[in-house]
Amino acid sequence: MSLLNTPVDLCTRFANTRLHLGVCGSVAAYKAADLLRAWLSMGIHVSVTLTRSARQFVSPLLFASLGAAPVYEDMFAQGQEVFAHLEPGQHAQVMIVAPATADALRRLAQGAADDMLAAQALAFEGPLVIAPSMNPRMWTHKATQTNVQILEKHGAQIVLPGTGSTACGDNGQGRLAPLHQIFLAALRSVSPQDMAGKRVMVTVGPTREQWDGVRYWSNPSTGRMGMALAVCAWLRGARVTVVCGPGISLSLPCELERYDISHAKEMFTVAHDLWPHMDMGIFTAAVADFSPKPFGSNKFKKAEAPQGFSIDFVPNPDILKTLAEERKPSQKVLGFAAETADNMNDLLESARQKLAAKHADILAANAINAPNSGFATETNALAVVDVHGHSKILSTASKADIAWDLCTWLLQL
Ligand code: C5P
Repeated sequence: MSLLNTPVDLCTRFANTRLHLGVCGSVAAYKAADLLRAWLSMGIHVSVTLTRSARQFVSPLLFASLGAAPVYEDMFAQGQEVFAHLEPGQHAQVMIVAPATADALRRLAQGAADDMLAAQALAFEGPLVIAPSMNPRMWTHKATQTNVQILEKHGAQIVLPGTGSTACGDNGQGRLAPLHQIFLAALRSVSPQDMAGKRVMVTVGPTREQWDGVRYWSNPSTGRMGMALAVCAWLRGARVTVVCGPGISLSLPCELERYDISHAKEMFTVAHDLWPHMDMGIFTAAVADFSPKPFGSNKFKKAEAPQGFSIDFVPNPDILKTLAEERKPSQKVLGFAAETADNMNDLLESARQKLAAKHADILAANAINAPNSGFATETNALAVVDVHGHSKILSTASKADIAWDLCTWLLQL
């Protein structure tokens, strides 16, 4: 599993981006090392500044050893570049302060330049992402809340602290936000906002068709491809709603609107109600085509069928086909198809047939029998066709990279 378990951890789009991370003196300072590792693992360059109080908790050597370069300390440290306080402003595309203490919020809100981090923030014209972390009473204090409002007015994005027990033994809002939220907020701030203003619905994951009180009919979908599309669209500015089958364990941005469903008919009802409000529909869910005729809510006992037994299945509604047929001309539809195929040309032919059968604009077929492709893998290989007759083989790549390319394709239709 990748470090933060988001669906875009393996996206290569961000390689060579430059981030600057400011770390302040909170107990959560040690968590900044994991954030750093997550960005570095994507090929992102990260420079770091540790405030004087951060250095009481964690050492500059830790960040340098993990790969941060440079690691800044005091404004007048020996051997430091004379204009070190201007460097992040010249080189980095986004500055993140995580964790940000109450005092750091005050200094950043007031435009102080009395230490290296504050001066670097003041000289930074790009996006500023701030993840506060402090005692809940310090967080709710009017002074802190006023500083947060000022920072928001200045254009900073605040990744709100979570609620729960804090290191000091109190309970309330003040814990550093989950790391994946900070990680994703930074990626979003450096992504093109070419899907801004679009409302996108994505069906994701498996469905479970219940048969008796304990048994159901399902498939091994993990929702990774669908969530990669949902998160890529969100990174690029779209408002995203996911209609999500059970058992998906991925870390997601809290801004995704999410409807959890269990079986195909439920997914159909929810998606059908949402669809008129959407600009794009992405149908990745591995919806069960049939449901067993239910036995009931009790457990079927082995003793009732010593010789075995048969189950009747009834067809489920086809969500993609129905919604594609009902759509307004402006609505764009991307469908998927899980196929067994001997080679990519056969897969392309299956994609063409399914594009026509489902009335989609784009149809992406993946070979579930090929290595590193299909269910429960981090990578995929697809044969993609569109309604204008364009076709492309997307050879094995991370689902995140494929999702990025498919979003671009949808925009270009
Ligand atoms: O017909 P098939 O199951 O191969 O089609 C796959 C595509 O149709 C996927 O995009 C899947 O999400 C969608 N689908 C659906 N409702 C169904 C079956 C499939 O939306 N009942």
